[in-house]
Amino acid sequence: MIPPSFPTRKLDAAVAPVSAREAIQESPAAPVERATTVPGGARTTAPSTTPSSNTAADVFDSVMRYATELYRGNREILRESYLPSRLPHREHQIRQVAEILAPALKGDQPSNLLIYGKIGTGKTAVVAQVRADMQRRPDCTAHVTFVTVNCANIDTPYSLLQTIGNTLAEKESDRIPTGWSLDRVQAAMRELMDAREGIQLLILDEIDRLVAKSGDGVLYTLSQINGELKTARLVLVGISNDLKFTNQLDARVRSRLNEEKILFPPYDAPQLQDILKDRAREVFKEGVVDAGVIERCAAYAALENGDARRALALLRVAAEVAERDRSKRITADHVVRAKSRLEQDIIIDCCRTLPSHCKVLLYAILQSYERRRGGVLTGEVYEGYAKLSQRLGLSPLHARSISNYLSELETLGLIRATIVSRGRGGRTREIVVDVPISETMPALEEDPLLAPLARPRTLSQTLLTNFDNPGRTGPY
Ligand SMILES: Nc1ncnc2c1ncn2[C@@H]1O[C@H](COP(=O)(O)OP(=O)(O)OP(=O)(O)O)[C@@H](O)[C@H]1O
Ligand SMILES: [Mg+2]
Repeated sequence: MIPPSFPTRKLDAAVAPVSAREAIQESPAAPVERATTVPGGARTTAPSTTPSSNTAADVFDSVMRYATELYRGNREILRESYLPSRLPHREHQIRQVAEILAPALKGDQPSNLLIYGKIGTGKTAVVAQVRADMQRRPDCTAHVTFVTVNCANIDTPYSLLQTIGNTLAEKESDRIPTGWSLDRVQAAMRELMDAREGIQLLILDEIDRLVAKSGDGVLYTLSQINGELKTARLVLVGISNDLKFTNQLDARVRSRLNEEKILFPPYDAPQLQDILKDRAREVFKEGVVDAGVIERCAAYAALENGDARRALALLRVAAEVAERDRSKRITADHVVRAKSRLEQDIIIDCCRTLPSHCKVLLYAILQSYERRRGGVLTGEVYEGYAKLSQRLGLSPLHARSISNYLSELETLGLIRATIVSRGRGGRTREIVVDVPISETMPALEEDPLLAPLARPRTLSQTLLTNFDNPGRTGPY
Protein backbone atom coordinates (compact mmCIF):
# COMPACT_ATOMS: atom_id res chain seq x y z
CA MET A 1 0.00 0.00 0.00
CA ILE A 2 2.45 2.64 1.13
CA PRO A 3 5.65 2.43 -0.86
CA PRO A 4 8.65 1.28 1.16
CA SER A 5 10.63 4.30 -0.01
CA PHE A 6 8.50 6.60 2.13
CA PRO A 7 10.53 9.10 4.04
CA THR A 8 10.25 8.42 7.74
CA ARG A 9 10.98 10.99 10.35
CA LYS A 10 12.75 8.74 12.76
CA LEU A 11 16.48 9.21 12.72
CA ASP A 12 18.50 6.13 13.18
CA ALA A 13 20.68 7.46 15.96
CA ALA A 14 22.02 3.98 16.58
CA VAL A 15 23.99 3.98 13.34
CA ALA A 16 25.18 7.56 13.56
CA PRO A 17 28.82 8.24 14.28
CA VAL A 18 29.33 8.94 17.96
CA SER A 19 30.94 12.28 17.20
CA ALA A 20 27.72 13.46 15.54
CA ARG A 21 25.60 12.62 18.54
CA GLU A 22 28.07 14.26 20.86
CA ALA A 23 28.12 17.40 18.80
CA ILE A 24 24.37 17.72 19.16
CA GLN A 25 24.45 17.09 22.86
CA GLU A 26 27.24 19.53 23.40
CA SER A 27 25.64 22.26 21.33
CA PRO A 28 23.88 25.07 23.12
CA ALA A 29 20.48 24.08 24.41
CA ALA A 30 17.49 24.51 22.15
CA PRO A 31 15.92 27.91 22.51
CA VAL A 32 12.92 28.50 24.68
CA GLU A 33 9.90 27.88 22.54
CA ARG A 34 7.85 30.94 21.80
CA ALA A 35 5.03 29.25 19.95
CA THR A 36 1.46 29.96 20.98
CA THR A 37 -1.74 28.15 20.19
CA VAL A 38 -4.26 30.06 18.16
CA PRO A 39 -7.88 29.29 17.34
CA GLY A 40 -8.14 26.29 15.08
CA GLY A 41 -5.41 24.49 16.93
CA ALA A 42 -2.77 26.03 14.73
CA ARG A 43 0.37 27.37 16.29
CA THR A 44 2.28 30.37 15.33
CA THR A 45 5.31 32.08 16.67
CA ALA A 46 5.33 35.32 18.51
CA PRO A 47 6.96 38.05 16.47
CA SER A 48 10.63 38.21 17.20
CA THR A 49 12.69 41.33 17.37
CA THR A 50 11.36 42.50 14.04
CA PRO A 51 11.24 46.26 13.73
CA SER A 52 7.75 47.52 13.06
CA SER A 53 7.08 47.57 9.31
CA ASN A 54 3.95 49.19 8.03
CA THR A 55 4.04 48.68 4.32
CA ALA A 56 5.36 46.08 1.94
CA ALA A 57 8.00 48.59 0.89
CA ASP A 58 9.21 48.81 4.52
CA VAL A 59 9.39 45.03 4.68
CA PHE A 60 11.37 44.83 1.42
CA ASP A 61 13.77 47.56 2.57
CA SER A 62 14.31 45.88 5.88
CA VAL A 63 14.77 42.39 4.36
CA MET A 64 17.25 43.72 1.81
CA ARG A 65 19.20 45.57 4.47
CA TYR A 66 19.54 42.51 6.66
CA ALA A 67 20.22 40.14 3.76
CA THR A 68 23.23 42.19 2.77
CA GLU A 69 24.44 42.02 6.37
CA LEU A 70 24.82 38.24 6.06
CA TYR A 71 25.89 37.45 2.54
CA ARG A 72 29.09 38.26 0.73
CA GLY A 73 28.47 36.00 -2.29
CA ASN A 74 25.48 34.86 -4.27
CA ARG A 75 23.22 32.82 -2.05
CA GLU A 76 22.84 30.30 -4.90
CA ILE A 77 26.19 28.98 -3.67
CA LEU A 78 24.22 27.07 -1.04
CA ARG A 79 21.87 25.57 -3.59
CA GLU A 80 22.15 22.06 -4.97
CA SER A 81 22.68 23.29 -8.52
CA TYR A 82 25.94 25.03 -7.59
CA LEU A 83 29.04 23.02 -8.39
CA PRO A 84 31.84 24.10 -6.05
CA SER A 85 35.39 24.23 -7.35
CA ARG A 86 36.57 21.86 -4.61
CA LEU A 87 34.91 18.71 -3.29
CA PRO A 88 36.63 17.99 0.04
CA HIS A 89 36.87 14.31 1.00
CA ARG A 90 36.09 13.14 -2.49
CA GLU A 91 39.63 13.44 -3.86
CA HIS A 92 40.03 9.66 -3.94
CA GLN A 93 36.76 9.08 -5.81
CA ILE A 94 37.55 11.89 -8.27
CA ARG A 95 40.88 10.24 -9.01
CA GLN A 96 39.25 6.83 -9.45
CA VAL A 97 36.60 8.13 -11.88
CA ALA A 98 39.20 10.14 -13.80
CA GLU A 99 41.52 7.13 -14.10
CA ILE A 100 38.74 4.92 -15.41
CA LEU A 101 37.57 7.46 -18.00
CA ALA A 102 40.99 8.81 -19.01
CA PRO A 103 41.59 6.38 -21.93
CA ALA A 104 38.75 8.20 -23.75
CA LEU A 105 41.03 11.23 -24.14
CA LYS A 106 43.25 9.14 -26.42
CA GLY A 107 40.27 7.77 -28.30
CA ASP A 108 40.38 4.41 -26.48
CA GLN A 109 37.24 2.89 -25.04
CA PRO A 110 37.07 3.00 -21.22
CA SER A 111 35.22 0.38 -19.17
CA ASN A 112 31.62 0.96 -18.22
CA LEU A 113 31.34 2.28 -14.70
CA LEU A 114 28.78 2.02 -11.94
CA ILE A 115 28.89 4.53 -9.10
CA TYR A 116 26.79 3.91 -6.06
CA GLY A 117 26.38 5.28 -2.57
CA LYS A 118 23.70 6.72 -0.31
CA ILE A 119 21.97 10.01 -1.00
CA GLY A 120 23.98 13.20 -0.74
CA THR A 121 27.35 11.47 -0.87
CA GLY A 122 28.59 13.57 -3.78
CA LYS A 123 28.10 11.12 -6.68
CA THR A 124 26.48 13.59 -9.07
CA ALA A 125 28.87 16.37 -8.05
CA VAL A 126 31.99 14.23 -8.55
CA VAL A 127 30.91 13.03 -11.99
CA ALA A 128 29.98 16.60 -12.99
CA GLN A 129 33.38 17.82 -11.87
CA VAL A 130 35.29 15.09 -13.73
CA ARG A 131 33.19 15.81 -16.82
CA ALA A 132 33.93 19.55 -16.60
CA ASP A 133 37.67 18.90 -16.10
CA MET A 134 37.75 16.54 -19.08
CA GLN A 135 35.86 18.98 -21.28
CA ARG A 136 38.34 21.74 -20.56
CA ARG A 137 41.08 19.72 -22.27
CA PRO A 138 41.70 20.12 -26.01
CA ASP A 139 42.22 16.35 -26.42
CA CYS A 140 38.66 15.86 -25.14
CA THR A 141 37.01 17.76 -27.96
CA ALA A 142 38.78 15.57 -30.48
CA HIS A 143 37.59 12.25 -29.09
CA VAL A 144 34.86 12.49 -26.47
CA THR A 145 31.21 13.51 -26.37
CA PHE A 146 29.20 13.56 -23.14
CA VAL A 147 25.52 12.90 -22.70
CA THR A 148 24.15 13.27 -19.17
CA VAL A 149 20.61 12.12 -18.48
CA ASN A 150 18.76 12.29 -15.20
CA CYS A 151 16.64 9.14 -15.20
CA ALA A 152 14.38 10.58 -12.51
CA ASN A 153 12.86 12.66 -15.32
CA ILE A 154 13.68 10.60 -18.41
CA ASP A 155 12.54 7.18 -17.34
CA THR A 156 11.13 5.38 -20.40
CA PRO A 157 13.11 3.62 -23.15
CA TYR A 158 11.57 5.92 -25.75
CA SER A 159 12.37 9.18 -24.00
CA LEU A 160 15.86 7.97 -23.11
CA LEU A 161 16.85 6.97 -26.65
CA GLN A 162 15.27 10.11 -28.08
CA THR A 163 17.11 12.31 -25.55
CA ILE A 164 20.45 10.65 -26.30
CA GLY A 165 19.91 11.10 -30.04
CA ASN A 166 18.82 14.70 -29.71
CA THR A 167 21.74 15.61 -27.46
CA LEU A 168 24.09 14.31 -30.14
CA ALA A 169 22.22 15.93 -33.06
CA GLU A 170 24.24 18.82 -34.45
CA LYS A 171 21.52 20.22 -36.71
CA GLU A 172 17.93 20.98 -35.88
CA SER A 173 16.86 18.86 -38.87
CA ASP A 174 18.66 15.81 -37.38
CA ARG A 175 16.58 15.84 -34.21
CA ILE A 176 14.34 12.86 -33.53
CA PRO A 177 10.71 13.95 -33.39
CA THR A 178 8.14 12.45 -31.05
CA GLY A 179 5.80 10.03 -32.77
CA TRP A 180 8.27 7.71 -34.45
CA SER A 181 8.22 4.02 -33.53
CA LEU A 182 10.73 2.89 -30.90
CA ASP A 183 12.69 0.92 -33.52
CA ARG A 184 12.99 3.97 -35.71
CA VAL A 185 14.11 6.13 -32.79
CA GLN A 186 16.76 3.53 -31.93
CA ALA A 187 18.04 3.40 -35.52
CA ALA A 188 18.16 7.22 -35.70
CA MET A 189 20.04 7.39 -32.39
CA ARG A 190 22.63 4.90 -33.71
CA GLU A 191 23.12 7.01 -36.83
CA LEU A 192 23.58 10.16 -34.74
CA MET A 193 26.15 8.35 -32.59
CA ASP A 194 28.12 7.24 -35.62
CA ALA A 195 27.90 10.71 -37.12
CA ARG A 196 29.63 12.10 -34.01
CA GLU A 197 32.24 9.31 -34.01
CA GLY A 198 34.66 8.77 -31.12
CA ILE A 199 33.85 7.87 -27.54
CA GLN A 200 30.45 8.77 -26.20
CA LEU A 201 30.18 8.85 -22.44
CA LEU A 202 26.57 8.33 -21.42
CA ILE A 203 26.05 9.31 -17.78
CA LEU A 204 22.81 7.83 -16.48
CA ASP A 205 22.19 9.56 -13.16
CA GLU A 206 19.65 7.83 -10.88
CA ILE A 207 19.77 4.82 -13.18
CA ASP A 208 17.81 2.77 -10.62
CA ARG A 209 14.74 4.92 -11.32
CA LEU A 210 14.87 3.95 -14.98
CA VAL A 211 15.03 0.27 -14.08
CA ALA A 212 12.25 0.63 -11.49
CA LYS A 213 9.98 2.35 -14.00
CA SER A 214 10.82 0.56 -17.25
CA GLY A 215 12.83 -2.57 -16.45
CA ASP A 216 16.28 -3.27 -17.84
CA GLY A 217 15.39 -3.72 -21.54
CA VAL A 218 16.78 -0.36 -22.63
CA LEU A 219 19.99 -0.96 -20.65
CA TYR A 220 20.35 -4.26 -22.47
CA THR A 221 20.01 -2.42 -25.79
CA LEU A 222 22.57 0.20 -24.78
CA SER A 223 25.03 -2.28 -23.33
CA GLN A 224 25.00 -4.24 -26.62
CA ILE A 225 25.03 -1.27 -28.96
CA ASN A 226 28.77 -1.19 -29.62
CA GLY A 227 28.32 -4.33 -31.72
CA GLU A 228 26.10 -2.32 -34.06
CA LEU A 229 27.98 0.98 -34.14
CA LYS A 230 30.48 1.67 -36.93
CA THR A 231 32.53 4.69 -35.92
CA ALA A 232 31.38 5.44 -32.36
CA ARG A 233 31.79 3.63 -29.05
CA LEU A 234 29.36 4.02 -26.18
CA VAL A 235 30.50 3.94 -22.55
CA LEU A 236 27.93 3.74 -19.78
CA VAL A 237 28.39 5.53 -16.46
CA GLY A 238 25.52 4.62 -14.12
CA ILE A 239 24.91 6.43 -10.84
CA SER A 240 22.60 4.99 -8.20
CA ASN A 241 21.74 5.43 -4.55
CA ASP A 242 19.94 2.12 -4.44
CA LEU A 243 22.72 -0.27 -3.62
CA LYS A 244 20.69 -3.32 -4.51
CA PHE A 245 19.27 -2.23 -7.84
CA THR A 246 21.66 -4.38 -9.88
CA ASN A 247 19.93 -7.47 -8.41
CA GLN A 248 17.00 -6.61 -10.66
CA LEU A 249 19.16 -6.67 -13.78
CA ASP A 250 19.56 -9.44 -16.28
CA ALA A 251 22.93 -11.14 -15.63
CA ARG A 252 24.39 -9.93 -18.96
CA VAL A 253 23.38 -6.32 -18.32
CA ARG A 254 24.72 -6.54 -14.78
CA SER A 255 28.14 -7.77 -15.81
CA ARG A 256 28.43 -5.17 -18.59
CA LEU A 257 27.45 -2.31 -16.32
CA ASN A 258 29.62 -3.53 -13.47
CA GLU A 259 32.91 -3.56 -15.37
CA GLU A 260 34.14 -0.98 -12.88
CA LYS A 261 32.43 -0.09 -9.62
CA ILE A 262 33.00 2.73 -7.15
CA LEU A 263 31.31 3.03 -3.78
CA PHE A 264 30.83 6.48 -2.23
CA PRO A 265 30.76 6.16 1.57
CA PRO A 266 28.59 8.50 3.66
CA TYR A 267 30.31 11.57 5.10
CA ASP A 268 30.94 11.70 8.82
CA ALA A 269 30.39 14.84 10.90
CA PRO A 270 33.96 16.27 10.63
CA GLN A 271 33.92 15.76 6.84
CA LEU A 272 30.57 17.54 6.57
CA GLN A 273 32.04 20.38 8.63
CA ASP A 274 34.83 20.80 6.08
CA ILE A 275 32.30 20.88 3.22
CA LEU A 276 30.17 23.46 5.04
CA LYS A 277 33.12 25.62 6.05
CA ASP A 278 34.19 25.90 2.40
CA ARG A 279 30.73 27.05 1.34
CA ALA A 280 30.23 29.33 4.34
CA ARG A 281 33.51 31.11 3.55
CA GLU A 282 32.34 31.67 -0.01
CA VAL A 283 28.83 32.88 0.74
CA PHE A 284 28.75 34.60 4.15
CA LYS A 285 30.50 37.70 5.42
CA GLU A 286 33.21 37.15 7.95
CA GLY A 287 32.03 36.67 11.51
CA VAL A 288 28.31 36.27 10.83
CA VAL A 289 28.25 32.51 11.44
CA ASP A 290 28.28 31.84 15.17
CA ALA A 291 30.52 29.20 16.70
CA GLY A 292 28.64 25.90 16.78
CA VAL A 293 26.46 26.57 13.72
CA ILE A 294 28.52 24.56 11.25
CA GLU A 295 29.08 21.83 13.83
CA ARG A 296 25.37 21.53 14.50
CA CYS A 297 24.40 21.40 10.81
CA ALA A 298 27.06 18.75 10.25
CA ALA A 299 26.00 16.74 13.29
CA TYR A 300 22.34 16.65 12.28
CA ALA A 301 23.20 15.66 8.71
CA ALA A 302 25.65 13.00 9.91
CA LEU A 303 22.81 11.46 11.89
CA GLU A 304 20.77 11.41 8.70
CA ASN A 305 23.03 9.12 6.69
CA GLY A 306 25.91 11.57 6.20
CA ASP A 307 24.02 13.49 3.54
CA ALA A 308 25.87 16.63 2.34
CA ARG A 309 22.71 17.92 0.65
CA ARG A 310 20.96 17.90 4.01
CA ALA A 311 23.88 19.66 5.72
CA LEU A 312 23.86 22.41 3.09
CA ALA A 313 20.08 22.75 3.25
CA LEU A 314 20.30 23.21 7.02
CA LEU A 315 22.85 25.98 6.64
CA ARG A 316 20.88 27.66 3.84
CA VAL A 317 17.58 27.56 5.74
CA ALA A 318 19.26 28.66 8.99
CA ALA A 319 20.47 31.75 7.12
CA GLU A 320 16.94 32.35 5.80
CA VAL A 321 15.52 32.07 9.32
CA ALA A 322 18.17 34.52 10.56
CA GLU A 323 17.21 36.92 7.80
CA ARG A 324 13.56 36.74 8.78
CA ASP A 325 14.58 37.48 12.34
CA ARG A 326 16.51 40.49 11.01
CA SER A 327 19.46 38.97 12.79
CA LYS A 328 22.97 40.07 12.01
CA ARG A 329 24.31 36.63 12.86
CA ILE A 330 23.38 33.04 12.20
CA THR A 331 23.05 31.24 15.52
CA ALA A 332 22.60 27.66 16.73
CA ASP A 333 18.97 28.55 17.44
CA HIS A 334 18.47 29.30 13.74
CA VAL A 335 19.80 25.84 12.88
CA VAL A 336 17.32 24.19 15.25
CA ARG A 337 14.49 26.10 13.57
CA ALA A 338 15.86 25.26 10.13
CA LYS A 339 15.80 21.59 11.04
CA SER A 340 12.19 21.84 12.12
CA ARG A 341 11.23 23.57 8.89
CA LEU A 342 13.01 21.00 6.73
CA GLU A 343 11.31 18.20 8.63
CA GLN A 344 7.98 19.78 7.89
CA ASP A 345 8.82 19.87 4.20
CA ILE A 346 9.53 16.15 4.34
CA ILE A 347 6.27 15.51 6.15
CA ILE A 348 4.29 17.44 3.58
CA ASP A 349 6.01 15.63 0.71
CA CYS A 350 5.20 12.39 2.47
CA CYS A 351 1.49 13.37 2.64
CA ARG A 352 1.53 14.09 -1.09
CA THR A 353 2.57 10.52 -1.86
CA LEU A 354 -0.09 8.75 0.21
CA PRO A 355 -2.59 6.53 -1.63
CA SER A 356 -5.79 8.47 -2.40
CA HIS A 357 -8.05 6.79 0.20
CA CYS A 358 -5.39 7.34 2.82
CA LYS A 359 -5.33 11.03 1.88
CA VAL A 360 -9.11 11.21 2.32
CA LEU A 361 -8.75 9.55 5.71
CA LEU A 362 -6.02 11.97 6.80
CA TYR A 363 -8.10 14.88 5.51
CA ALA A 364 -11.06 13.71 7.61
CA ILE A 365 -8.82 13.50 10.67
CA LEU A 366 -7.46 17.00 10.08
CA GLN A 367 -10.95 18.42 9.61
CA SER A 368 -12.26 16.92 12.86
CA TYR A 369 -9.10 17.86 14.69
CA GLU A 370 -9.38 21.43 13.52
CA ARG A 371 -13.05 21.59 14.44
CA ARG A 372 -12.55 20.08 17.90
CA ARG A 373 -9.25 21.80 18.49
CA GLY A 374 -7.93 18.60 19.93
CA GLY A 375 -7.88 14.80 19.87
CA VAL A 376 -10.41 12.92 17.73
CA LEU A 377 -11.95 9.58 18.69
CA THR A 378 -11.68 6.79 16.12
CA GLY A 379 -15.49 6.59 15.74
CA GLU A 380 -15.53 10.19 14.54
CA VAL A 381 -12.68 9.48 12.17
CA TYR A 382 -14.63 6.65 10.50
CA GLU A 383 -17.70 8.85 10.27
CA GLY A 384 -15.78 11.79 8.84
CA TYR A 385 -14.02 9.57 6.34
CA ALA A 386 -17.33 8.00 5.20
CA LYS A 387 -18.92 11.44 4.74
CA LEU A 388 -15.99 12.78 2.75
CA SER A 389 -15.86 9.66 0.57
CA GLN A 390 -19.54 10.09 -0.18
CA ARG A 391 -19.00 13.72 -1.06
CA LEU A 392 -16.20 12.78 -3.42
CA GLY A 393 -18.21 9.97 -5.03
CA LEU A 394 -15.93 7.23 -3.69
CA SER A 395 -17.10 3.98 -2.17
CA PRO A 396 -15.60 3.98 1.33
CA LEU A 397 -13.16 1.25 2.32
CA HIS A 398 -14.03 -1.32 4.99
CA ALA A 399 -13.23 -0.68 8.63
CA ARG A 400 -10.29 -3.12 8.53
CA SER A 401 -8.60 -1.23 5.66
CA ILE A 402 -9.19 2.05 7.46
CA SER A 403 -7.63 0.61 10.57
CA ASN A 404 -4.58 -0.49 8.52
CA TYR A 405 -4.28 2.99 7.04
CA LEU A 406 -4.48 4.51 10.53
CA SER A 407 -1.59 2.30 11.63
CA GLU A 408 0.42 3.35 8.60
CA LEU A 409 -0.24 7.04 9.21
CA GLU A 410 0.98 6.46 12.74
CA THR A 411 4.09 4.61 11.58
CA LEU A 412 4.89 7.53 9.31
CA GLY A 413 4.62 9.83 12.32
CA LEU A 414 1.76 11.86 10.80
CA ILE A 415 -0.68 11.05 13.62
CA ARG A 416 -0.43 9.65 17.13
CA ALA A 417 -3.06 7.43 18.71
CA THR A 418 -3.49 6.89 22.43
CA ILE A 419 -5.92 4.60 24.21
CA VAL A 420 -8.41 6.55 26.32
CA SER A 421 -10.74 5.11 28.87
CA ARG A 422 -14.38 6.13 28.58
CA GLY A 423 -15.67 4.86 31.91
CA ARG A 424 -18.36 2.29 31.33
CA GLY A 425 -18.15 2.96 27.61
CA GLY A 426 -14.90 0.96 27.55
CA ARG A 427 -11.73 2.06 25.85
CA THR A 428 -11.22 3.76 22.53
CA ARG A 429 -8.39 5.36 20.62
CA GLU A 430 -7.91 9.10 20.47
CA ILE A 431 -5.98 10.51 17.58
CA VAL A 432 -3.89 13.66 17.59
CA VAL A 433 -2.27 15.01 14.49
CA ASP A 434 1.41 15.60 14.20
CA VAL A 435 1.46 17.63 10.98
CA PRO A 436 0.90 21.34 10.36
CA ILE A 437 -2.78 21.49 9.38
CA SER A 438 -2.60 24.72 7.42
CA GLU A 439 0.07 23.31 5.12
CA THR A 440 -1.01 19.70 4.95
CA MET A 441 -4.61 20.30 3.88
CA PRO A 442 -3.67 22.26 0.73
CA ALA A 443 -1.03 19.60 -0.07
CA LEU A 444 -3.73 16.91 0.10
CA GLU A 445 -6.09 19.04 -1.97
CA GLU A 446 -3.53 18.99 -4.79
CA ASP A 447 -4.72 15.44 -5.52
CA PRO A 448 -7.41 15.89 -8.22
CA LEU A 449 -9.58 13.44 -6.30
CA LEU A 450 -9.61 15.70 -3.25
CA ALA A 451 -9.66 18.98 -5.18
CA PRO A 452 -13.43 19.48 -4.62
CA LEU A 453 -12.67 19.79 -0.89
CA ALA A 454 -10.43 22.82 -1.42
CA ARG A 455 -11.76 25.82 0.39
CA PRO A 456 -10.72 29.43 0.12
CA ARG A 457 -8.21 30.26 2.80
CA THR A 458 -8.04 33.54 4.59
CA LEU A 459 -4.73 35.32 4.81
CA SER A 460 -4.47 34.53 8.50
CA GLN A 461 -5.00 30.83 7.81
CA THR A 462 -2.30 30.93 5.18
CA LEU A 463 0.06 32.52 7.67
CA LEU A 464 -0.58 29.84 10.27
CA THR A 465 2.34 27.78 9.22
CA ASN A 466 4.38 26.21 11.89
CA PHE A 467 7.49 27.59 10.30
CA ASP A 468 9.18 28.83 13.41
CA ASN A 469 8.17 26.23 15.90
CA PRO A 470 11.05 23.91 16.64
CA GLY A 471 9.19 21.95 19.32
CA ARG A 472 6.39 20.43 17.26
CA THR A 473 5.09 18.55 20.22
CA GLY A 474 1.55 19.79 20.49
CA PRO A 475 -1.28 20.42 18.09
CA TYR A 476 -0.65 22.82 15.26
N1 LIG B 1 32.62 16.69 -1.05
C1 LIG B 1 31.78 17.67 -1.28
N2 LIG B 1 32.16 18.95 -1.24
C2 LIG B 1 31.32 19.96 -1.46
N3 LIG B 1 30.02 19.80 -1.74
C3 LIG B 1 29.55 18.52 -1.77
C4 LIG B 1 30.39 17.41 -1.58
N4 LIG B 1 29.66 16.30 -1.69
C5 LIG B 1 28.42 16.69 -1.96
N5 LIG B 1 28.35 18.02 -2.03
C6 LIG B 1 27.16 18.82 -2.29
O1 LIG B 1 26.07 18.16 -1.65
C7 LIG B 1 24.93 18.15 -2.50
C8 LIG B 1 24.55 16.73 -2.80
O2 LIG B 1 25.58 16.11 -3.55
P1 LIG B 1 25.24 15.20 -4.80
O3 LIG B 1 24.06 15.71 -5.52
O4 LIG B 1 26.47 15.00 -5.59
O5 LIG B 1 24.85 13.86 -4.05
P2 LIG B 1 24.44 12.46 -4.67
O6 LIG B 1 25.35 11.45 -4.06
O7 LIG B 1 24.38 12.55 -6.14
O8 LIG B 1 23.00 12.28 -4.04
P3 LIG B 1 21.72 11.52 -4.67
O9 LIG B 1 22.00 10.05 -4.55
O10 LIG B 1 20.60 11.92 -3.77
O11 LIG B 1 21.54 11.97 -6.07
C9 LIG B 1 25.32 18.95 -3.73
O12 LIG B 1 24.91 20.28 -3.53
C10 LIG B 1 26.83 18.87 -3.75
O13 LIG B 1 27.40 20.00 -4.37
MG1 LIG C 1 22.77 12.56 -7.47
